[in-house]
Amino acid sequence: MVETQQSNKEELMAATPLLRARGISKYFGAVQALVDVDLEVDAHEVVALVGDNAAGKSTLARVIAGVHAPDEGTLEIDGEQVRTFTTRAARANGVATVFQELALAENLDVTANIFLGQELPDRGLLDEEAMETLARGYLKDLNARIPSPRTPVAHLTAGQRQCVAIARTLVGKPRIIVLDEPTSSLSVAQTAEVLTHIEQLRSMGLGVVIISHNLTDIRAVADRIEVLRHGRNNGSFIAAETAYEDIIAAITGAPRTSRRLA
Ligand SMILES: Nc1ncnc2c1ncn2[C@@H]1O[C@H](COP(=O)(O)OP(=O)(O)O)[C@@H](O)[C@H]1O
Ligand SMILES: [Mg+2]
Repeated sequence: MVETQQSNKEELMAATPLLRARGISKYFGAVQALVDVDLEVDAHEVVALVGDNAAGKSTLARVIAGVHAPDEGTLEIDGEQVRTFTTRAARANGVATVFQELALAENLDVTANIFLGQELPDRGLLDEEAMETLARGYLKDLNARIPSPRTPVAHLTAGQRQCVAIARTLVGKPRIIVLDEPTSSLSVAQTAEVLTHIEQLRSMGLGVVIISHNLTDIRAVADRIEVLRHGRNNGSFIAAETAYEDIIAAITGAPRTSRRLA
């Protein structure tokens, strides 16, 4: 009896996704940026959000990040409905976001950038040595190719900067990380590095939402692919089982040739 209750509870918990957005709509005047959009992300999962320009990807990222409150719909984190849409509340709920503008300080080193403006609760300002040790740990967790936590950001490649921006989110011990176009301005080699960081986040148990235009990247790293088109869900795919053409068809609205999931 006790065992049954336990397993029921486990099943219930397993059925609750880390992040669940349901029926999200967001309007900017006459522009319907998002209409009745659903999205679910589990721990240990990378979900790619794809779609053409103006499909609503960044708007959905901003709703999850607490930048925008949705006009309709609900957002749940670990089954708890989010009622306050501020970036502070989102961070407190374990949501971290890396926007396209990384906002790094060129003149500061990697460690200083990771801790810029972030005091750890209860401990106040950390001393330099402790910050450097933590920074080194984050870089190691991400499998970073950065020479030293004391390297000035001005000396880093665009891919390494993206890594610093991701490492910066780890200070708050997030459960969900949203990355808006993290590879859009990167070379092939730098893109591969960032994809490695994303795989590391997944193996650390985080839920990851990656927005990208690059379907090759997406199919390399994502578990699931969610397509937005004109602000609406337009297909949900298991990355490993889906042909490139089917994703393109969902993005562009062309007729699909093979089976669509969900
Ligand atoms: N702050 C805003 N004010 C007005 N319109 C916006 C704003 N943010 C986004 N939009 C509009 O919402 C639509 C979706 O934009 P966005 O979410 O940035 O798309 P994507 O990231 O998929 O390219 C676009 O038509 C865009 O112009
Ligand atoms: Mg965008």
